[in-house]
Amino acid sequence: MKSRIRKAVFPVGGLGTRFLPATKAMPKEMLTVVDKPLIHYAVEEAAAAGIEEFIFVTGRGKQAIEDHFDFSFELEDNLKAKGRKDMLDAMRAWLPRPGQVAYTRQQEPLGLGHAVWCARHLVGDEPFAVLLADDMVLSDSPCLKQLVDAQAKVGGNVVAVMDVPRDQVSRYGVIAPGKDDGRLAEVTGIVEKPAPEKAPSTLCVIGRYVLMPEVFDHLAAHRKGAGGEVQLTDALAKMIGHGPFHGLRFEGERFDCGDKLGFLQATLAFALAREDLGAGLESYLRGMFEGRRKPKRPGGAR
Ligand code: UTP
Repeated sequence: MKSRIRKAVFPVGGLGTRFLPATKAMPKEMLTVVDKPLIHYAVEEAAAAGIEEFIFVTGRGKQAIEDHFDFSFELEDNLKAKGRKDMLDAMRAWLPRPGQVAYTRQQEPLGLGHAVWCARHLVGDEPFAVLLADDMVLSDSPCLKQLVDAQAKVGGNVVAVMDVPRDQVSRYGVIAPGKDDGRLAEVTGIVEKPAPEKAPSTLCVIGRYVLMPEVFDHLAAHRKGAGGEVQLTDALAKMIGHGPFHGLRFEGERFDCGDKLGFLQATLAFALAREDLGAGLESYLRGMFEGRRKPKRPGGAR
């Protein structure tokens, strides 16, 4: 079996109901933080971790994602005609090479576990990464790279974890940590969306995983879990004791961009971190909070 992590799965079949009405006709993963869609950041992060094959599990109404990673002849002709070779080159530089992208379709949004299972033939018998584009991580070293590096040392499954206030753990998969060096914690149990008083810890899994292909055997049962969905967490629970399994406390700040407040926080954090925008935005925000400029409500805003 190959051990280098070459393939990443991007489940993008969800409905994004928390972000309605924006997501009624537009995929959640195409929501834009500053000037790039969420899925673009996720693909860049995967590429920076050495991923060579990008597997999207899509659903109805997700064509914009395929178009985003494809040539756009009209736009390219237009840029050429205007002499904007710089913009053309910049765009070509981030487009995946022919054959690097594969799409499969999750016909029904039955849950994250089901979405990952839909990619089984494209992944085959090798360890692979999973990235949820609506989780963004602002960090010095790309979050997936941190996982891939850790997995190269310890093997098996490695999932990204972070400490969450106990009253919020029921939104996440939560691990029971075993041997723990403060960065890597052995996973001795994992449960999806537990009640706060029943959670085995406050170490919660976020949308970055490196997984062994055996996970597909467990997902094949299509057993429904929390919320009536096929949960990835439940398949991971079945893998405990059958090989190394760790949670990595990654370096960086994570934002839940599937949630409106998380998305706004990500927009500010990513913009403030940008050389071209940070200073201007900071000065605007300072003015707003020092009372020099009152935030206005647009007419009709709720
Ligand atoms: P979420 O739990 O955020 O669900 O999925 P969602 O449907 O996208 O959004 P809400 O909760 O209705 O607002 C986490 C990730 O799993 C994918 C989503 O696209 C997202 O990247 N997913 C979820 C699927 O691909 N298929 C599913 O059946 C469910």
